[in-house]
Amino acid sequence: LRPGRLLYEGKAKRVLDAGDGRAVMEFKDGVTAFDGRRRDPAPGKGEAAARLSARMFELLEEHGVRTHYICYMGGSRILVERHEVAPLEVIVRNYAYGSMVRRMPFLKPMARLSRPLVELHLKDDERGDPLLLPEDVVEAGLLSWSELDALRSLALRVDAVLESFWRRRGLRLIDFKIEVARTPRGFVVVDEVSGDTMRLVDAEGRHLDKELYRRGGSVEELVEAYRELARLAGAPERLCGE
Ligand code: C5P
Repeated sequence: LRPGRLLYEGKAKRVLDAGDGRAVMEFKDGVTAFDGRRRDPAPGKGEAAARLSARMFELLEEHGVRTHYICYMGGSRILVERHEVAPLEVIVRNYAYGSMVRRMPFLKPMARLSRPLVELHLKDDERGDPLLLPEDVVEAGLLSWSELDALRSLALRVDAVLESFWRRRGLRLIDFKIEVARTPRGFVVVDEVSGDTMRLVDAEGRHLDKELYRRGGSVEELVEAYRELARLAGAPERLCGE
């Protein structure tokens, strides 16, 4: 397998064509926040995020959730299926936090929600990823009503799997973001599932996710937290080339 043409380069990842409808997703040793206004090199972060993402995709697949993950390539790379990604960010929340508290100040950070909340946002940095109404999504032709139902069920299923996995390891899953691709066989979870996209806190309320960095913590502290998450999650089991 020889990674070819660069298909995409973002703040945290590079995606390279791998032929046969596959791609190599390479997690970068760098961290950014506030739409790239704070950025730092972060040696070791790429590998920790790749290992954790690989494990999270394996976990989801064990629970019947289809993902783009094929196998872990070692280091900071995973092999994935290529898909056309929907221009949506799907956020699920178990506790009030972040932009939910900014939008609804009656809620205190870490207030447990009476039930998990699923939000759809438009993936659009320039507009600050605005929250969408279901009607917006249908009017724009992004999804049908029945696809919206299916996406909501998928998001809640992912939440149930991740939430119970991390609870058994002593961490609370505050919220997370996933991205999906629409296929003739239904939705596929794509992108990554890591400390960049989940908020996780321990019993003392200490974050093991990107919130550490957003709040001014050091890169070393952040990478240590990502390694801890990867260690708690366990080593990837589906290795490429086996
Ligand atoms: O900032 P907000 O409260 O909306 O974030 C909700 C969840 O989605 C957090 O876990 C955050 O890390 C994740 N997120 C993300 N990418 C974004 C926005 C939010 O992974 N662009």
